[in-house]
Amino acid sequence: MRVTIRAPRAGDEVAYAEAVRRSADHIGRWNPVEPDALPDLVERQGPALRTFLIVDRETGGLVGKVNVANIAMGRFCNGALGYDSFLPFAGTGRMTEGLRLVLDRCFAPQSEGGLGLHRLEINVQPDNDRSIALAKRLGFRHEGFTPRMLFLQGAWRDHERFALTAEEWPGAAAAEERG
Ligand SMILES: CC(C)(COP(=O)(O)OP(=O)(O)OC[C@H]1O[C@@H](n2cnc3c(N)ncnc32)[C@H](O)[C@@H]1OP(=O)(O)O)[C@@H](O)C(=O)NCCC(=O)NCCS
Repeated sequence: MRVTIRAPRAGDEVAYAEAVRRSADHIGRWNPVEPDALPDLVERQGPALRTFLIVDRETGGLVGKVNVANIAMGRFCNGALGYDSFLPFAGTGRMTEGLRLVLDRCFAPQSEGGLGLHRLEINVQPDNDRSIALAKRLGFRHEGFTPRMLFLQGAWRDHERFALTAEEWPGAAAAEERG
């Protein structure tokens, strides 16, 4: 593993802002570019939102950010993944590695420090080939098409919906073995 994951914390603001600014070109085509958003994101962490930073082990550099948003427990135990990768690590496979660790954490029971989720979804704009490739690489299934789902870049954008349940996540068994 070239990466680890951890929650964002006070002190990450400068590195985060620099990473987002460096990566504005590729992020901005699909997601808002918000270099100064980290303090607000830290503030909003709670039962419905958990954020993970993916960190390069060798350099400590920020590889990417993953939001597990709209978390609903009860009979749903569901969350929606959103993510951005940062230069210079984008396209090196580290984002995929980090997301595997995030999925382990999402599907692990709360008694073991996980989020105890049963289902995760990723909603992707139809032309976002890199994100669709990432979702498929992680084993997400295509579930359907949601017209006008999210307001992004000034318009309501259609999304393809991908999902994965705990039963389909091979990492779950491996995580159990690792304890
Ligand atoms: C979507 C996004 C997060 C993908 O991130 P990424 O940095 O490309 O992710 P990875 O590096 O893990 O992707 C693997 C790519 O690196 C390549 N790669 C290079 N070295 C690799 C290695 N050692 N192991 C695995 N893959 C490697 C893979 O071939 C793959 O390229 P491909 O998708 O062209 O096949 C990124 O493009 C991004 O931030 N986009 C803008 C925001 C966005 O779209 N967010 C999602 C909205 S739904």
